[in-house]
Amino acid sequence: MNQAEHRQENSLPTDRRSRARWRSEAFHHVVRTILFVVGTRPEAIKMAPVILACRREPWVRIRVLATAQHREMLDQVLNVFDIKADIDLNIMRENQTLPELTARLMIALNDAFARENPDVVLGQGDTTSVMVAALAAFYRHIPFGHVESGLRTGDLNYPFPEEMNRVVAGHLARWHFAPTQSARDNLLAEGIDETRITVTGNTVIDALIEASKRCDKHAPKIAPGQRLVLVTAHRRENFGGPFAEICRAIRHLADVRSDVEFLYPVHPNPNVRDAALTLLGKHPRIHLCDPMEYLSFVAAMKSAYFILSDSGGVQEEAPALGKPVLVLRSETERPEAVNEGVVKLVGTDFNAIVSESLRLLDDSHAYQSMARGISPYGDGHASQRIVDVLGQDLVTHAWPHKVLNAC
Ligand code: UD1
Ligand code: UDP
Repeated sequence: MNQAEHRQENSLPTDRRSRARWRSEAFHHVVRTILFVVGTRPEAIKMAPVILACRREPWVRIRVLATAQHREMLDQVLNVFDIKADIDLNIMRENQTLPELTARLMIALNDAFARENPDVVLGQGDTTSVMVAALAAFYRHIPFGHVESGLRTGDLNYPFPEEMNRVVAGHLARWHFAPTQSARDNLLAEGIDETRITVTGNTVIDALIEASKRCDKHAPKIAPGQRLVLVTAHRRENFGGPFAEICRAIRHLADVRSDVEFLYPVHPNPNVRDAALTLLGKHPRIHLCDPMEYLSFVAAMKSAYFILSDSGGVQEEAPALGKPVLVLRSETERPEAVNEGVVKLVGTDFNAIVSESLRLLDDSHAYQSMARGISPYGDGHASQRIVDVLGQDLVTHAWPHKVLNAC
């Protein structure tokens, strides 16, 4: 059966009244347990709207499992969205290594899945928490749904280890919620069955729209005549020399441009924090702070003139807010905004960062062409699309035959 036929066979009624009747009839007696795994800040931001959408569904019993691969940064996000973890594995250790993190996650997630025995495990993105959750679910024959599936650079080492994480999670998933058409194409090219893929948009835009409504009172204060450049950087492949180059470029820009202030919420990873404090501390126009709570960070993005970042999530959010991003990486798994010309890859080379930043500051034509305000990653309805697909597969007659056979 091709994807169109599959969708038609399983499609929900389209008008609102029949849809409501379909829901109440189909879901009257059925409750399915979905266990949401969140480990780090971006997973929580992107999974929160899906959890909130599930709260409206009578057929879902929600269980939220925080691996707490991140501690403070995860808690910050769960608080903003008023989500409380039902299970907290409290995994994080100071300066954790990938092997020990992976090992501790596997043992703890396997135990938790055994106790909870959910119908479905849902994970998001490309962290170690997601990769291990997919594997632990596979070992226990629990179907796994992958939110933000199909992002690829095509190089297993970049970003490290995220590209490997998402390839592994992707190949173990029963449901692939691809944010874009190109993510779907990546999955098809790897032989994933098209009936398992749904292009939903990225749930980060759902979260951003909600945060955007609530964030204005958190806006940073900027002196008259000054422009704000927001900075984030945390990627493992940039540790050491590349990160020092990024800092040298920022310090140079701050030295030569007295009309620009830099705001940099520093990631708590010691490899980042120690270097940032050493290389960027004590400059009057470089403001280093702890990771910002999500609403404050969205307010800062809205106030920024442009953004320097190696973050995945920021590459998705900033275009929707009309803010140019210079990406401190040489590749990206998010080509859509680059192709639209609103995000630019500048890598970690001092000269490239300085010259592209000065271009945005001084060339209004170049600036305007990148500040167009487009949203290639979503329309704000991704979460509901995900919940609808799960509802069809878990609650209609297709369950359990189709799902179990497919795993
Ligand atoms: C992780 C993800 C990365 C994601 C990033 C988002 C992996 C391998 N990496 O990278 O894909 O882009 O999160 O931010 O999954 N720390 C704290 N408090 C916190 C969070 C982190 O102190 O709330 C410190 C700890 O010392 C911890 C270290 O940061 O050991 C590294 O955390 P880890 O999750 O291993 O890696 P990240 O670099 O945060
Ligand atoms: N973010 C935040 N506070 C900060 C920096 C970032 O809330 O101080 C948000 C940002 O809006 C985005 C997400 O965190 O939604 C990105 O997380 P991160 O850069 O840590 O991870 P990545 O997206 O690179 O995996």
